[in-house]
Amino acid sequence: MRFLPVVNDRGSSQEPILKPTYWPEPTAFVPERFAPEEVAGRPRLAYIPFGLGPRSCEGTALAMAGAELVLAVLLKRFRFRPVPGHEVTPVERFVLWAAEDIRMELGPRTR
Ligand code: HEM
Repeated sequence: MRFLPVVNDRGSSQEPILKPTYWPEPTAFVPERFAPEEVAGRPRLAYIPFGLGPRSCEGTALAMAGAELVLAVLLKRFRFRPVPGHEVTPVERFVLWAAEDIRMELGPRTR
């Protein structure tokens, strides 16, 4: 799966705000970027999805716990694959959304 450059609600596109020094191929879906050894090789502030400082997200721990719980339950039961040819267009709306959803094919996980 490849992500297109981020567009905002007004329809104009902009380059992803990811610095290639720390995020090579910024539009590619590479979950391995978040492997512990990769994270250790980046400055702590290269990834701040919940903001920073005194006005940072109050729900960080809840959001992370919720995401991990939901993903653990779903991934244990199903195998997710991106629908071939479906391009995901990230939309900037305070946090990132996908313009036309993220379409996935689901199958049972056999083991
Ligand atoms: C994936 C989920 C979430 C993301 C990515 C996210 C991201 C953010 C970001 C970027 C900010 C702005 C931080 C700043 O201005 O520096 C913020 C603020 C805030 N978030 Fe979240 N958030 C998430 C979930 C939640 C949840 C689940 C809650 C509450 C249960 C929550 C409550 C808040 C509050 C109250 C603020 C305002 C903090 C302030 O202005 O002092 N967020 N969030």
